[in-house]
Amino acid sequence: MTPPDDLMSKLVSLGKRRGFVFPTAEIYGGLQGFWDWGPLGVELKNNIKRMWWQRFVQERMDVVGLDSAIVTNPEVWNRSGHLTGFTDQLVECKKCHHRFKKDDLSSGACPDCGGKDLGTPRQFNLMLKTQVGPVQDSGSDAFLRPETAQNIFVNFETVRTTSRLKVPFGIAQIGKAFRNEITPGNFIFRTREFEQMELEFFVSPKEDQKWFEYWVEESMKWFTDLGIKSDSIRQYHQKKEELAHYAKATVDVEFNWPFSSQGGKGWGELMGIANRTDFDLKAHNLKYKDESGEFTPYVIEPSFGVERAALAFLINAYEEIEGGRTTTTESNKETEVVLRLHKSLAPIKVAVLPLSKKEPLAKLATEVFDSLKSKFMCAYDEVSSIGRRYRRQDEVGTPYCVTVDFESLEDKKATVRDRDTMKQERIPIAELNDYCRDKFNES
Ligand code: GAP
Repeated sequence: MTPPDDLMSKLVSLGKRRGFVFPTAEIYGGLQGFWDWGPLGVELKNNIKRMWWQRFVQERMDVVGLDSAIVTNPEVWNRSGHLTGFTDQLVECKKCHHRFKKDDLSSGACPDCGGKDLGTPRQFNLMLKTQVGPVQDSGSDAFLRPETAQNIFVNFETVRTTSRLKVPFGIAQIGKAFRNEITPGNFIFRTREFEQMELEFFVSPKEDQKWFEYWVEESMKWFTDLGIKSDSIRQYHQKKEELAHYAKATVDVEFNWPFSSQGGKGWGELMGIANRTDFDLKAHNLKYKDESGEFTPYVIEPSFGVERAALAFLINAYEEIEGGRTTTTESNKETEVVLRLHKSLAPIKVAVLPLSKKEPLAKLATEVFDSLKSKFMCAYDEVSSIGRRYRRQDEVGTPYCVTVDFESLEDKKATVRDRDTMKQERIPIAELNDYCRDKFNES
């Protein structure tokens, strides 16, 4: 029941084989650091984003949402310090000329050729440049945003006044970010295009520590509530020299990855909570006034990566069972994979499986699919043996399979099978919707 040693290669293979995620434009050899998300992957990502929005926006009175432009006035990046400060140290191996992030060269040798002659590190700006408008000169230079946060700051006053909010309050945003990472890698862990789920929470400077600790706890809880094992995540307090140019303090929520990322073997950043002080609002000349007077609020920022969260959820959920979970009806001797995703994250919620492709069973099974489809993301699978079909759904984490058999024609009932317990229950077709709703509400 333990995760296999080669878990990452198994996930990469599952990702492609079952349509979660694969290299972009693979027919042309892909593009390093860019990935395309397939039918199941887009459902998983949408579910992660939905659960984040529900927790941090919908269920709170003190947070509102925003969806701002990816390309914005370049002055934003000048004021925010990204034009000069958003850099990584780049080192080139003199032997093979491959380039690396200095942080990844702790051994002192080139990871590709082993060469020891490494050049002096130079600052490399991670922002991706583009041009806006038909005239291509320096005045048309613009950048793809490297974080979603800045547009929250520049819209601080507009959003605050339109929503009539008072400090403490937050503005949340989910959207794409781009970084010209020197070494993208470890599957979808570090990419050049990714999505962030960011919350900028504006507080009185006197209360920054209280809110910082609060958001560290809330961030950890979001993951554990969605099934991440509590011994797979931990807090790492960044050292002074590790802090971003805007941060007074940062806690990384680290996950125990099955690969070595920055920060030592296994443990590495999943998301981060930063105390950005008044750095950003001051940089944009923004202030706030209430009964206590005029001041510049401090910002506490929990910042999540969608793809990195997806990777953690997949790793956490992946389980191999040697010899299979044999029962009399599902006999097999193959290694079986069960993706024990939290039900709210599962790409497919219910799979409808008719025992026969032919009428009149197909008609009844289609009616079952139609009765569930408006409430649940459903799949319809009529190909191969029922045991094989169960395993196909287990492998992608589908919590419930509804089997429509010949008896269903008589008793108007179907068999519901639970992914985790494999328990089967005979439920009246007319009650399936309520049954599934109750099951999903339980989790
Ligand atoms: N606004 C603050 C900020 O952007 P960050 O630590 O650079 O902070 C926040 O990024 C989160 O975004 C990370 O913890 C990670 O989950 C995700 N992230 C950052 N860079 C990434 C990359 N190159 N690929 C995938 N996810 C990334």
